[in-house]
Amino acid sequence: MPLEGRSYRVLVGAGARHRLVEVLPTGIERVALVTQDSIPVAVDPGVEHRTFTIGEGEEAKDLGTVEDLCRDWARWGLTRGDCVVAVGGGVVTDTAGFAAAVYHRGVPVVHVSTTLLGQVDAAIGGKTGVNLPEGKNLVGAFWQPAAVICDTDVLATLAPREYRNGQGEMAKYAFLGVDRLADLSLDEAVAACVACKAEVVGSDEREGGRRAILNYGHTLGHALETAGSYDLRHGEAVAIGLVYAAELARRLGRIDDERVAEHRRVVGSYDLPMNLPPDVEPGELLALFSRDKKAVGGITFVLDGPRGVEPVKVNDRAVLLDALDALR
Ligand SMILES: NC(=O)c1ccc[n+]([C@@H]2O[C@H](COP(=O)([O-])OP(=O)(O)OC[C@H]3O[C@@H](n4cnc5c(N)ncnc54)[C@H](O)[C@@H]3O)[C@@H](O)[C@H]2O)c1
Repeated sequence: MPLEGRSYRVLVGAGARHRLVEVLPTGIERVALVTQDSIPVAVDPGVEHRTFTIGEGEEAKDLGTVEDLCRDWARWGLTRGDCVVAVGGGVVTDTAGFAAAVYHRGVPVVHVSTTLLGQVDAAIGGKTGVNLPEGKNLVGAFWQPAAVICDTDVLATLAPREYRNGQGEMAKYAFLGVDRLADLSLDEAVAACVACKAEVVGSDEREGGRRAILNYGHTLGHALETAGSYDLRHGEAVAIGLVYAAELARRLGRIDDERVAEHRRVVGSYDLPMNLPPDVEPGELLALFSRDKKAVGGITFVLDGPRGVEPVKVNDRAVLLDALDALR
C-alpha cells in the first residue's frame, strides 16, 4: 500500500498468517489480539499477548464494543509501544481498527483478515468504524494498519454464503482494471484485487475523488440492503448493483451491449444474483438512491465508460427506472 511515509505491506497467500512476526512494528512489547469465538484461526505474535473477543455480526460493531475493548486494554496496560492485531472479517477489523485509532490517540494495528470480503476489501485501505442505531458506519476514522495479512488457507472454513459474499466484492475489480480475474487462482485473484485497491487508495486516501470508484455497484447494492427484507448479503447486493450500473451506463450511451454482457458474464461466473428480488418497489429504491452517503448534489452513480469507471451524476428518473426494469 503506497502512502507517503506510511506505506505498508499486505502479505497474500497460503500460510501467510505464519509470517505475522515479521510484519509487526519493530520494538513492540505486547500484542492485544482481537477476534471472535467463532473464528478458527490461531496466530502467534511471538511476544507477550492476550486475546480479547468481541461479539458477532453488525450488532457487535458498535461504540459499546469499542468502549469494552478500550477499557480492557487499559486494565491490561496496553500502550502506544504495543500493537493491536485484529484477527477476523470486516466486523473485527473495522471495530478493532477504530478502537486502535482512538485508544491513547492511536496505537498501531495489524489486520489478519479471515474472510474473502475482508481480504479483498475491508482490511485494506484504512477505513475503520462502527455502526450507530441511526445507520451503518456512521462513526469512524481513517487509521491505516501497519500491515495486513491475507492468508487464503483460512478461507477454507468460511460458510459457503460468506465466501460468495466476498466474491461479490471481488467481481467489482474485474471492471476496475483487474484483467481475466475469473481465470486467476484464488491467491492470484486476492493479490490482484489488493493491488488494485492499494493503487486507488494510494492515489486518494481520504476519498477526495477517485477512491469513490471502489463503490462501483454499491449505489443499488446499498439501496437493496437498506430496503431490507430481501435476504441479500452485501456481496450479493453489490453483484446486482454491478449489472444495474452496466444497464444504466448503456442507456446513457457510455458503454455498448457487449460490455453489459461482460458484466453479466463476470457476475454469472461467480454464481451471484443479477436480478432484482421479485417484490422490490422501484420507487423506494429511487428514494434510497438520493439518500446515499455518497450522493452530493444529486444522485451520483459510479459508472463504466470510455475513460473507465468514474462517478457520474444521473438525474433522469425515467432512465433509472428503465434500467431497473432490465433486472426483472
Ligand atoms: N473498512 C472497509 O473499508 C470495509 C469495506 C467493506 C466492508 N466493510 C465492513 O465489513 C463488514 C463485513 O465483513 P465480513 O463480510 O467479513 O463479515 P464478518 O466479519 O461478520 O464475518 C462473517 C462471518 O464469518 C465468520 N468467520 C470469519 N472468518 C472465518 C473463518 N476463517 N472461518 C470460519 N468463519 C469465519 C465470522 O465469525 C462471521 O460470523 C461490514 O461491517 C462492512 O461494513 C468494511
